[in-house]
Amino acid sequence: MSSQVKRIKVNLNKKLSSSYEISIGHDIIGKIGTIIAENRIADRYVVVTDSNVSVLYGELFLKELRKAGGEKAKAEIIEFPAGEASKNITTALTIVGRLLNLGVDRKSALLALGGGVVGDMTGFIASVFMRSIPYIQVPTSLLAQVDSSIGGKTAVDLPEGKNLLGTFYQPRGVFVDLKFLNTLPASEFNNGMAEIIKYGIIDDPDFFCLLEEGVEAIKKRDEAFLERIVTTSCRTKKKIVEIDEKDQGLRHILNFGHTIGHAVESGSEYKIPHGSAISAGMIAAARISERLYDFPSSDRARIERLIEAVGLPGYIPEFIRTEGVLARLKWDKKKSGTMINFVLLKKIGMPFVTAQVTESTLREVIEELRK
Ligand SMILES: NC(=O)c1ccc[n+]([C@@H]2O[C@H](COP(=O)([O-])OP(=O)(O)OC[C@H]3O[C@@H](n4cnc5c(N)ncnc54)[C@H](O)[C@@H]3O)[C@@H](O)[C@H]2O)c1
Repeated sequence: MSSQVKRIKVNLNKKLSSSYEISIGHDIIGKIGTIIAENRIADRYVVVTDSNVSVLYGELFLKELRKAGGEKAKAEIIEFPAGEASKNITTALTIVGRLLNLGVDRKSALLALGGGVVGDMTGFIASVFMRSIPYIQVPTSLLAQVDSSIGGKTAVDLPEGKNLLGTFYQPRGVFVDLKFLNTLPASEFNNGMAEIIKYGIIDDPDFFCLLEEGVEAIKKRDEAFLERIVTTSCRTKKKIVEIDEKDQGLRHILNFGHTIGHAVESGSEYKIPHGSAISAGMIAAARISERLYDFPSSDRARIERLIEAVGLPGYIPEFIRTEGVLARLKWDKKKSGTMINFVLLKKIGMPFVTAQVTESTLREVIEELRK
């Protein structure tokens, strides 16, 4: 089934050159090639993807791209091993070497076909290769579709930490094909769901209600419902990025649940999935908001119920030490040279940023979430 393509415009700083569209639909892989060819972004395309996505969609995508571009269309594919461990400067340099061997120049564009790892790395390479060439995002994981493909943050990881080498560089377009989600493993699906729930909590009480009512549809991965919640999530992310492209203010609210969540994730030495860590982080932030800022306990309970209902664990496993989580938060503080900012809530849909959370409150809430 191929569907209508919905288009959302991302307007950045009123500069048309860095504005672009997010196109969303079901089974639009054929249309992606046509839209790209119509827009004549480049003479030549190189698809960058990872080993998992390549097996599933690499050849098909390349075929559609060549078909849309006509006889003379040049399109190649480069793949690298799937996983966060590949998101580093060594992989980036290997890809750059391949681009040079292929004779890629400034009239070429990169297509990032994959999850957030592919998107972040391809965007990073595009931003610096020959002083920048265009790139397009074709996100295939739920997290990439609702979050990482939108907003132009690119990066690779360094041994000292995640995303430490990167740029702000906007793609020329984002193509969200919901059909990709059919092959996404459950744990990866949950990673994206955690971000979708976050949008409801920080931005839109009605959307939060919709998610509450749609738990069964989410669990069944109902196509129409997924399209609805992915589209709303993309709109929310684009709205926030339009106001604060360079992450100097409002964009911080996207970190809701992530400050403690990342500390939990690294405290587990990345043994627990990102979505589970962020879920625990969101519940911790809701509980801190309730204790310190009169966030209604009924809203806190709704957040916990929704997270649990979609199948995300909202607790911190016993093997993760409280001291480890606190040490990680202190390390973040030292690294940034400022206070740690927490995104807390006055109500669902009303977040605010504060550094006023004491270590004892953090310790109590982390202990409460243990299982
Ligand atoms: N740039 C941003 O604004 C931003 C925001 C959030 C996260 N990120 C980054 O995104 C990354 C995480 O992204 P992710 O969760 O997509 O991880 P990922 O790219 O590693 O993808 C997760 C796994 O799913 C597989 N996969 C992807 N699509 C698939 C599909 N359709 N079918 C089957 N398997 C599929 C991948 O091969 C991989 O094994 C992190 O590096 C994070 O730092 C960036």
